[in-house]
Amino acid sequence: MSVTKKIGMLPGDGIGPEVVAQGRKVLDAIAEKFGHHFDYAYGDVGAVAIDKTGNPLPDDTLAICEQSDAFLFGAIGHPKYDNDPSAKVRPEQGLLKLRKSLGLFANIRPVSAYDSLLHMSPLKADRIAGVDFVVYRELTGGIYFGKKGRTEDGAYDHCTYSNYEIDRITHLAFKAAQYRKKQITLIDKANVLETSRLWRERVTKIAEAYPDVTLTTMFVDNAAMQMIQNPKQFDVILTENMFGDIISDEASVIGGSMGLLPSASVGDKTAMFEPIHGSYPQAAGQNIANPIATILSVAMMLDHLGLVDEAIDIRQAVKSSLINGMVTADISKHSSYGTDRIGDFIANHILDGIESCSQSNIKIGLSTII
Ligand code: IPM
Ligand code: MG
Repeated sequence: MSVTKKIGMLPGDGIGPEVVAQGRKVLDAIAEKFGHHFDYAYGDVGAVAIDKTGNPLPDDTLAICEQSDAFLFGAIGHPKYDNDPSAKVRPEQGLLKLRKSLGLFANIRPVSAYDSLLHMSPLKADRIAGVDFVVYRELTGGIYFGKKGRTEDGAYDHCTYSNYEIDRITHLAFKAAQYRKKQITLIDKANVLETSRLWRERVTKIAEAYPDVTLTTMFVDNAAMQMIQNPKQFDVILTENMFGDIISDEASVIGGSMGLLPSASVGDKTAMFEPIHGSYPQAAGQNIANPIATILSVAMMLDHLGLVDEAIDIRQAVKSSLINGMVTADISKHSSYGTDRIGDFIANHILDGIESCSQSNIKIGLSTII
């Protein structure tokens, strides 16, 4: 059945516009193949928005997101702000405001190691072969959004959590676990923090409603170590905002390339999909950025919109690009394929399948489908 969806597009800074353009190509290919209609609306966010309007999240961008069924976010950040801690307006504020205003309380980051890329991981191949877990990070509470300020001789950032904030993401994580290996690891610091003790209490209680799922708890410092020592033990990781920020960056290098990892931020209304990598300003405009994380974020978007077969098509096309060496230089040093070429390959694969393209043609980059 064909559907019509409103899709917001927020390319942002650095390589954001280039990778989002590939996500758009892939959405267009899906629309054509399945007879769907995607209405796109573009908005500025981050440093580009500050340059144009003085505001990292202009009202019209927020309105585009509010009205969308889902939106794709590229990246934000610019070196001129990174080196200036006194800057009053920062690109990151745009992202935090977006999360808070839209109630995007759960950040979901799947991490898996592709067999063909095991050699790229900083960890030994036997430790990571078969790694497949997902991080559920609380995104609109905790120390990020608590009261903060300066005193005469210091500064403070308060960390608070309500039962409601903990419960809603916990249910999402348990439901996800039921479709996976049925294991949840709650990461906290309950030996020190009161908020962590509340998390343990609430999550342990909620676990009773999911008897098929096993709950384990782990202190965050130990979890950081276990992530390196034995990442295969994890299935669904559930954690608060700040721990999730740190743990998910650590997790992101397991597979060898940050350029492959997608994410979703969901709430009660619209949802946001974004590659986990940053704006990579040194590569901006050079057509070298890996678009796969963005393209896999589009797959997560389609899953979220209930377009499951469409998402499978995208993932198959991505696998095919990796197997056939249609990759950017971050994955294969000698590859000369650019960002847009990978997007073309994946879009064409969705439309025509790999059959239309002979193996030898792919290898020399002369395929008729690219
Ligand atoms: C992330 C980022 C953001 C965060 C920054 C850019 C504010 O690190 O999405 O993980 O800390 O949440
Ligand atoms: Mg982070």
